[in-house]
Amino acid sequence: MKVLEIKEIIKNFNKIRILDKFSLEVDEGEIVSIIGPSGVGKSTLLRCINGLEKIDSGEIVINNKEIKNKMTKQKNLDVGLVFQDYNLFPQYSVLENITLTLTKVLKIKAEESIIKAKDLLLQMELLERMNLYPYQLSGGEKQRLAIARTLATNPKIICFDEPTSALDPKLVKYIFKIIKELSKQQKAILIVTHDIKFATDISDRVIEMKKCI
Ligand SMILES: Nc1ncnc2c1ncn2[C@@H]1O[C@H](COP(=O)(O)OP(=O)(O)OP(=O)(O)O)[C@@H](O)[C@H]1O
Ligand SMILES: [Mg+2]
Repeated sequence: MKVLEIKEIIKNFNKIRILDKFSLEVDEGEIVSIIGPSGVGKSTLLRCINGLEKIDSGEIVINNKEIKNKMTKQKNLDVGLVFQDYNLFPQYSVLENITLTLTKVLKIKAEESIIKAKDLLLQMELLERMNLYPYQLSGGEKQRLAIARTLATNPKIICFDEPTSALDPKLVKYIFKIIKELSKQQKAILIVTHDIKFATDISDRVIEMKKCI
């Protein structure tokens, strides 16, 4: 079943066209990678899907709902983005990075949020690190915390922006396993990467973005 439909979207920044009638459909459980040269608009595409940028025209339909073509403070819970630099809350502990998302975004009660957060940390092999702060984590641990935080809202579509760029080969294998597991849970996965081997190995489809002329 289709969960993401991007129909001929156009995105300009200061009159420069970045996305020119870009279209893409992604099914439940499907892994799609997007490759292409630096500056072509890959991160911009993920930001548009996640409502962090407004598109100039076209349509983005997520889980059969068109996302409104305006920026809203309300987060679309059907879609999650794991940022390249993780965007963790530096002033909060590992556990709080997740409980805060649960209490603020999902309005879950504090005690329940701790149970759920611990479960997510266990899945990401981070439970023992729960009282540390982001600066005390290794790169791979930070990334797993970012994934756990994204999973907290139980999105149907998960976008990863360059998930392997800061990882050593062992951690690349580990992230490979995590992403495959998420697709088995019927999540639709969109990966932006420069790592063509990773993209080909993990994906059902690889799409190449080309610069607008
Ligand atoms: N908020 C913004 N305001 C103006 N221009 C922007 C903005 N965000 C991105 N751009 C421009 O849009 C273009 C595409 O940027 P984007 O970050 O999407 O590229 P990318 O394909 O992800 O590149 P990379 O592989 O280096 O991460 C770039 O030329 C960038 O300068
Ligand atoms: Mg980018």
